[in-house]
Amino acid sequence: MRKKIIAGNWKMNKTFDEGMGLVTEIVAMVKDEYNGSAHVVIIPPFVHINAVSRMVSEHNNVFGGAQNCSNHDSGAYTGEVSAAMIKSCGASYVIIGHSERRQYFGEHNDWLAKKTDAVLKNGLTAIYCCGETLEEREANKHFEVLKAQVSEGLFHLTAEQFANVVIAYEPVWAIGTGKTASTDQAQEVHAFIRNLVKEKYDETTADTLTIQYGGSVKADNAAELFSAPDIDGALVGGAALQSRSFVDIVKAMK
Ligand code: PGA
Repeated sequence: MRKKIIAGNWKMNKTFDEGMGLVTEIVAMVKDEYNGSAHVVIIPPFVHINAVSRMVSEHNNVFGGAQNCSNHDSGAYTGEVSAAMIKSCGASYVIIGHSERRQYFGEHNDWLAKKTDAVLKNGLTAIYCCGETLEEREANKHFEVLKAQVSEGLFHLTAEQFANVVIAYEPVWAIGTGKTASTDQAQEVHAFIRNLVKEKYDETTADTLTIQYGGSVKADNAAELFSAPDIDGALVGGAALQSRSFVDIVKAMK
């Protein structure tokens, strides 16, 4: 069966004390209110990863993650953080190629392919993001863009490695804008991505791939999105900054 994953990406938000308070609340609410099997991933800024991962370690469905990592193993790369460091802090997941990294930090598919390698080499799971801009969608180029992002970033991997990859479809026009893709629009793209993976690898690799949707997911639209056959969870930004709204999204995944 395909793993369902709800991940909360805090982006550059929360001081240490604020973050610890939020995790404490999330963990308690998930434990008390959620008896489904989805994995819950909490993805704070780097400086909180160690503490967050320790706080969630006794809960078998809650994990820590990182928002980015270096493509290098170690060395003179001031300001960078390696996948091995993230692993040593107890995290399990790393987001690769979030649209904000692509847009503001010039991260390209070939670079992201190397980051994905670093993540997998260290026994972590990559959450590889893809998504088209509004202009690309309006020009009807979204499938072409998504195909390039997915194939150039991931298709050098073996089918075995692909078992540790999650894909997050996040249309750039829906991130932080309050405009969610409709369930039909998201489902169409998720099915397209799954089919790309099937054509490149095989049916089993495609069928077992978790594909999350991201972009203004909220408690009131999550259940409908999750009802689509190819939507296996969510990568949540804004609504992950408060325990109530985040856990309500988790609860929408039966
Ligand atoms: P949003 O962000 O939920 O605030 O739209 C999603 C994301 O960027 O992962």
